[in-house]
Amino acid sequence: MLSRLSPQVPDKIIALMQAYAADPRGDKIDLGVGVYRNADGHTPVMAAVKTAEHRIWQDQTTKTYTGLEGDRAFLDAMAGLVLGQAARDDRRAAIATPGGTGAVRMALDLVRLANPAAQVFVPDPSWPNHAAIIGFLGLARVDYRYYDTVARGVDVAGMLADLGRAGPGDVVLLHGCCHNPTGADLTPADWAEVTAVIAKTGALPMIDIAYQGLGQGVEADAAGLRGLVETLPEALIAASCSKNFGLYRERVGVLMAVTPDAATRDVTQGNLSNLNRQTYAFPPDHGARVVTQILADPDLRAAWQDELDGMRQRVQALRAGLADTLRSRSGSDRFAHIAAQQGMFSLLGASPAQVEQMRAEHGVYMIGDSRINLAGLSEGNIPRVAEAILAAGL
Ligand code: LMR
Repeated sequence: MLSRLSPQVPDKIIALMQAYAADPRGDKIDLGVGVYRNADGHTPVMAAVKTAEHRIWQDQTTKTYTGLEGDRAFLDAMAGLVLGQAARDDRRAAIATPGGTGAVRMALDLVRLANPAAQVFVPDPSWPNHAAIIGFLGLARVDYRYYDTVARGVDVAGMLADLGRAGPGDVVLLHGCCHNPTGADLTPADWAEVTAVIAKTGALPMIDIAYQGLGQGVEADAAGLRGLVETLPEALIAASCSKNFGLYRERVGVLMAVTPDAATRDVTQGNLSNLNRQTYAFPPDHGARVVTQILADPDLRAAWQDELDGMRQRVQALRAGLADTLRSRSGSDRFAHIAAQQGMFSLLGASPAQVEQMRAEHGVYMIGDSRINLAGLSEGNIPRVAEAILAAGL
């Protein structure tokens, strides 16, 4: 039986993590996978997480199962964090999931249950696992224009034109903030236009928000999706706590469905809980409980928010530092987009051969489409990264 299997094409982000780990050079620089690093190149456990874990360790008296949907307090806390006041409780269904990827997978599984013929409209480019999961589930994918590689910003007109081709029964996938891999986000006015186009088509919006708090701040980063949820009858929202709580390996995520009415909510909730049951029964709880502790305690929440604000400011400073160094060394403004964009990523616009040259000759690792994780930089290695970029002919 197993000899019938065909080899899988490795995910490019995971393959790069492995190549980096195998490189013996002591001065290699990892701008690959999207994890936050501090000035020492370390991905620390956030202080609020440590405190919450300590409290759980002291107070928790059982590890028996939660509900299939996860812990209700976690789902409510995450609805508050992501949606704010945007959807009434009786219009909201939700499940806890293993990370944001689990939420994306469950969202697309739900779409397949509702309409196996759905076309999923995906920004070009997008996080590679979006297309991989859509393909794995046998759903149809339509790429819509998103990034203008010449202007190095969102191609809003192209995006609106392409989204206008969606119809009822289709899905429009949007990045809530900190677009991965481009760092180019919609403005509030763009969100309003995108919302209006989706409203006309009758398609279901699905928002993947994995970097809330790392763009402009926790509230500002959710404003676009909140406006959309207030306007449209339905939406799916996949949220991750990997980056903004630093809980990567604990796998903490949530899938929320906003429904037109309470009756649809009940049926949707039943389907979501059943999807969890079929896939892994109960979602993981430890990390979700940590997040709940933090969000429910005003002091802990304030401490978390401060630390997250500091992380965001550090990434913005690294963006500015790299853009400035490139400007002064190249005598040109062609890297200004790096300072202007948001979140962890930007695209350098390098060819695969140039990406390979930077890796082989300078030990600078980035994804093959030339996505760099700005949070992988440090004040000390910016000059070397700038040198590698310019030496590659960019
Ligand atoms: C990334 O894009 O690097 C992260 O979201 C990690 C992942 O799972 O790909």
